[in-house]
Amino acid sequence: MKALILYFIGFYSAYSSPVATVDDQSSFVTHLISEIDSGQYEIEDLMREAVFKPPQESDIQFYFHVRNGPADGIKVYWNDSEGIRSAGFAKEKHTLFIIHGWRNQYDAKVIEVVSKAALDVQDINVFAVDWSKISFKTYLEASSAVPEVGSLLGKLMDSLVENNGLDLANTTVAGHSLGAHVAGIACAHVEGECDVIVGMDPAGPLFSYDKTEGRLDTTDAKFVHVIHTNAGLLGFNKAIGHADYFPNGGGSQPGCILDITGSCSHSRSYLYYAESLTSGHFTAMKCDNYTEYKNGNCDGQIKSFMGQYQVDKSARGSYFLKTHSSAPFAMGDNS
Ligand SMILES: *[C@@H]1O[C@H](CO)[C@@H](O)[C@H](O)[C@H]1NC(C)=O
Ligand SMILES: *[C@@H]1O[C@H](CO)[C@@H](O)[C@H](O)[C@H]1NC(C)=O
Ligand SMILES: *[C@@H]1O[C@H](CO)[C@@H](O)[C@H](O)[C@H]1NC(C)=O
Repeated sequence: MKALILYFIGFYSAYSSPVATVDDQSSFVTHLISEIDSGQYEIEDLMREAVFKPPQESDIQFYFHVRNGPADGIKVYWNDSEGIRSAGFAKEKHTLFIIHGWRNQYDAKVIEVVSKAALDVQDINVFAVDWSKISFKTYLEASSAVPEVGSLLGKLMDSLVENNGLDLANTTVAGHSLGAHVAGIACAHVEGECDVIVGMDPAGPLFSYDKTEGRLDTTDAKFVHVIHTNAGLLGFNKAIGHADYFPNGGGSQPGCILDITGSCSHSRSYLYYAESLTSGHFTAMKCDNYTEYKNGNCDGQIKSFMGQYQVDKSARGSYFLKTHSSAPFAMGDNS
């Protein structure tokens, strides 16, 4: 009910918007409702005009995670290669970057669950990228800073390549929400090429389908794997990767009942991804759309697993699946 009100507000003011056309945007959302405190909601007008200070290098911090290390990681400085080594970085290992989204920081749930799951499976290097100095600002400011944050992160990754021997060919950059676009832009700016980007429900509001340079797209890495869980509200509503997965159609997720802000469905993207790393068999089927999938018109089509430690790099196009409404979410071949 309240989500419908949100769409109505969005639809109405889209026509009077001075800065964006309806066609150009990934979603009709022009006002965001967010829960700032338990039971306290704030509405942000995304269509206002504003000018912001550009982010600085010091607005991006890294926390390094190792097996059996502190839950929040070890703070490391990009220009301190000795400190990075002594925290446990080893260049011969796989490296995973995890980038949180709006109103999150280094101890965000996405970082906690994804780093834990990844380290349970493999002894790898994990960098949590903390850009909370920017991400805690309004959505308008945080989203408009994404290109700058991404290009700064790209530069910091270059210095990790140069000083610590980071192997981009053995690197996965996983980002949630706005962090998915930060991942794309960072990889677009690094000198080499990122191997895999995992977009966990890339943010939709204020991102354009047509203007690929401002968002995650297929030119950013060798392979871009995208999981959509709140498409059209907080998440991007179209396929933007080499392979895009749409659990339960990609919109609202089962078990998210009164999801006024969309945040429950939005966060399912990283819960599914984390589960897929350790145990999940999120069998998905290639299909034109969810209706076709539900009607069984794609039975026998090409199957692919969503997520996984080694993403399915042979997948191309859109894949659909169902999940359970609570953990463990994966349905295996019954989805
Ligand atoms: C890293 O850069 C910061 C400023 O950005 C500086 O204060 C610090 O001394 C530098 N550390 C090293 C090891 O160069
Ligand atoms: C990536 O790193 C892992 C160890 O974490 C190693 O087993 C694997 O061979 C490496 N892959 C490539 C392509 O270098
Ligand atoms: C879903 O795909 C089928 C087959 O390609 C097509 O006929 C149908 O119009 C599509 N439905 C929607 C809602 O896009």
